[in-house]
Parts: sequence; C-alpha cells; structure tokens
Amino acid sequence: MSAPSPPPSLDPLRSASGRLLAWYDAHARALPWRAPAGHWPDPWRVLVSEFMLQQTTVATVATRFETFLARFPTPRAMAEAGADAVLEAWSGLGYYRRARHLHACAAALVARHGGRVPAEETALAALPGVGPYTAAAVAAIAFDRPTVPVDGNVARVLLRVLGLDWPLPGALARLRRLAPALAPPVRAGDHAQALIELGALVCRPRAPACPRCPLAGLCVARAGGRTDELPRRDPRPSRPVRRVRAWLAHDGAGRVLLRRRPPRGLLAGLVDVPSEPLRAGETGGGPPLAADWRPLPGEVRHLFTHLELRVRLHLARVRASPPPGRPPPEGVFWWPLARLEALPLATLGRRLLAHAGLLPSGRQASGR
Ligand code: ADE
Repeated sequence: MSAPSPPPSLDPLRSASGRLLAWYDAHARALPWRAPAGHWPDPWRVLVSEFMLQQTTVATVATRFETFLARFPTPRAMAEAGADAVLEAWSGLGYYRRARHLHACAAALVARHGGRVPAEETALAALPGVGPYTAAAVAAIAFDRPTVPVDGNVARVLLRVLGLDWPLPGALARLRRLAPALAPPVRAGDHAQALIELGALVCRPRAPACPRCPLAGLCVARAGGRTDELPRRDPRPSRPVRRVRAWLAHDGAGRVLLRRRPPRGLLAGLVDVPSEPLRAGETGGGPPLAADWRPLPGEVRHLFTHLELRVRLHLARVRASPPPGRPPPEGVFWWPLARLEALPLATLGRRLLAHAGLLPSGRQASGR
C-alpha cells in the first residue's frame, strides 16, 4: 500500500469557474431537459433525464425525451400509470432496470415528498435508483445546490486538470468527497453542466481537443503531456462465465417465439429468446417446442457488469405459428419481428435475433 497522497489544491480550478461558465454559455448544446438561460428547469424533467442518461447516449435520449415526459408529466402520473407502462414507454432505451427504478422512485416521491422532487442531496440519494451521481446532478442542475456530480466523464476532466494519478473507479468516491468544495457559490447547476459538457465535447477519452478547452491553461495533465495517461484505471476484475443454450423458433413469415423473463433475477421482466443455463453435467429443460433444431456456428458473448454469458444459439423454422399440437409453454409467445419496438426486448435477445440473421446486425444503441 502506498502512503496516502496529500489532498490536491483546488484553488486554480475554483478560480477558473468564471471562465468555465463563460465557455458553457457560448457552447452548451440545447438539450430538451435544459432550461433556457434565466429560467429554472422542472426538477422532475431533470430527474427523468438523469435516469435516462445513466446508460443511454444524449442523442438517443434527446429523440425520446418529450414523448416520454408527455406520457408521465409528473411523479404522480408515473406512479399511478404502473411499472409496466413505464417499461413499455422505455422500450428501445436499454438497461430496463432503470425503468423499474424510475417507477419506484416516482412512487417514493409521492409517498415521501408529496409528489415533488426534494432539493437536498441526501433526500435524493435515499430514493430508489438514485445513486450519488444522480443525486448531485439533480441537486445542482434543478436546485443550484453547490455540488458537482462526478461520473466517469466529469472525473476524467477533474483528474486531468488537477493532474491526479488516482485510479478509477476508486477515484470517483474520492472526487465526490471534494465535490462541495469545487462548486461555485452561484450558478452551481450551470457549472455542473459545464463540466459534463466539457467531458463530452472537449476532454474526450482519446485525443482531447485541448486547444478548445477553457481550462487548458491550468491543466496539469496537458502541461506535463500526460492527457493520454490520465485518468488511470485499476485492472477490471475478471467476470465469471456462464454458458447458456438458446432456442430461437421462427415461422419464415416474420414471427418469432419469445419469452417474458420472470420478475426477479437476470433481465427481470424483460423479453428475450428462450434459453437455459448449461452447467457441467446438466442437460437443461430442452427446447420450448418440438422442431428440427439446428445449432448455429459460433457463440454470442454478452457482458453484464458481474457476468459473461456465452450463448450457443439453436434455430428452428416451423411451418406455422403457433404450430399445430401442444401450445408453447407458459411465458412463451409468438411475436412479429416488425413489432419488436413495442416490447421491452433485452439487448441480448436483439443480438441473438441478429446472430440468426432475422434482424440486421449493427451496433446496439444501448445495453441490457
Ligand atoms: N449525461 C449525464 N447527465 C447529463 C446532462 N445533464 N446533460 C448531458 N449529458 C449528461
């Protein structure tokens, strides 16, 4: 263990907040959840945007935001609509656990806060699905509380400007402890968004655009030619591997056999391709219906934060859907490929459909 390093001096960064805010005023993107200059944003819109932006790109969220908010304009409207309605409206945004958390959060806002979003970071952090980043982001952006939301992008800016060797992900907690001291006494919300914007547009992971950066003059990493080295990262722990066999039946007329996953466990409540775990010595429950099943070559590898799945896909074409004879088992249903957008289809399910050639393959917009 190395000796703890002394706390960094934040003074240069604090005194540059005026320059950072001026840069933000000139360069901020107009995004649907941002209030026009001189107006306060609606805290519910800010909260929803931060849930959506946790794992989905700004470009995707921007196209979906207003429709989603029109359907759930207040926490109470969302709480009363129910979790399934939120899950359905979330379709295509990926990482569906966020939709369940957002619904639970709306219900908690109604139960604990009279249907309003609280301004205190500690009250925000006690809500379902709200971690330290989201709590600080909402407190700063919606209520101008003097704090700085620190996610991987903001951490990159801070670690470079301050020239800190603190490795990620541990650096996040250390920077969050400094956050209140980093925020300016006025316009803390714009300051937070300026750091977010700087991380997204200028201080990018690779090839940062330093000549365009308002903080370049005080950036320790730039002065030392170390922007490529910072931030440092601890090696990721390796994930356990789980092998799975999946069964994809299609009828040749655009319908596939899908299943709704149980409400708990991996991909809870989402729709995917029927599958079964393969453990040493186990044969599993077998395919969901009798057909001429053929294994496809190769396997689909899918990473979760805690687990790597390796899926061996078997394909069968049936004459008609549903085929004559036994109905498919409970939880399994036929569905037209043309209407997948109406389902909370797990990213893994989408990838398996692409692996079988039933959907175009390509980059996924987002995960889970
Ligand atoms: N990513 C996370 N929060 C964001 C925000 N408020 N604006 C733009 N990108 C973000």
